[in-house]
Amino acid sequence: MSLLSYPERGPWGNAKWRGNCSGYIYRHLFQLLSPQRFCDPMVGSGTSVDVAREMGIEAVGLDLHSGFNVLSQPIRLHLPAHWNGQADLCFSHPPYHTMVTYSGAQWGNEAHPDDLSRCSNLDEFYEKLALALLNQRDSVKVGGIYGTLLGDLRQKGAYHALASDIQAYLPRSERRAILIKAQHNTQSGTRTYSKLRFGRIEHEYILLYERQPGQVYAVLAETVQTQQETRTRSWKAIIGAAILGLGETFTTAQAYQAVMNAAPERIQQSEHWQAKVRQTLQQLPGLTNPERGVWARAA
Ligand SMILES: C[S@@+](CC[C@H](N)C(=O)[O-])C[C@H]1O[C@@H](n2cnc3c(N)ncnc32)[C@H](O)[C@@H]1O
Repeated sequence: MSLLSYPERGPWGNAKWRGNCSGYIYRHLFQLLSPQRFCDPMVGSGTSVDVAREMGIEAVGLDLHSGFNVLSQPIRLHLPAHWNGQADLCFSHPPYHTMVTYSGAQWGNEAHPDDLSRCSNLDEFYEKLALALLNQRDSVKVGGIYGTLLGDLRQKGAYHALASDIQAYLPRSERRAILIKAQHNTQSGTRTYSKLRFGRIEHEYILLYERQPGQVYAVLAETVQTQQETRTRSWKAIIGAAILGLGETFTTAQAYQAVMNAAPERIQQSEHWQAKVRQTLQQLPGLTNPERGVWARAA
């Protein structure tokens, strides 16, 4: 099943740890994936490893609060020697950007610069979380599973789709499952949200990837290619949307102007944007080019 809902958190870990997770979620994952060796590199209060050990699974829990930094230390070097640097499952539950602050708040007296809950903007968060997840990938055997539990975030009216956006940094060919988890017992859930126009976010995502043979640079090449394809596709969307406001026939100059109005930042990033506009106009369905510099929508 891909929809998980466990209102109780169970006796594992610490219910008072901000942002802790129900142990039943881990129990579900362990039953699904049957790992013998499990690692959680952001273990927080220890919920995941408590459940694992109770189920007879060898488990290692690491966290910045006890001196392990997933951004600078290879996880595989922190596994028991007899694992030979390979877990069956490496699953994390990172901070959801700045939703809950850990260093200097939940633990320790000061902010830690590599604390994932203290990134100064979303791009920094994605870059760092991607590194953490590739570190997780590096710690599992080929055929092993790496993944994460992540929720989205609404700040000042903007909806930050953390769980969707992070996938652009990971190898699409290794993605195996996305499960939706109902969110219960959140601190924000106890506040009144009568004025919240779109309602409270009450779900999180479990992203699961299976490590395939191949070194990390092959994975990075794949993600760069995916991102380039996405950029190409987004040009089509930008240009297609920009010319919606033009009439039945329009000139190339009018199309340039419409794109300049619609996406000023994007054209600043691309020296050859006008060539891109002309090329895309040629490719857009339903457009003809009856004479040089003139475009017409098919009736
Ligand atoms: C959402 S909590 C995990 C909660 C856990 N699932 C539980 O039930 O208690 C996220 C954890 O990530 C840790 N963390 C943040 N940045 C980290 C880093 N760079 N390396 C390792 N752990 C980090 C925080 O200290 C925090 O304990």
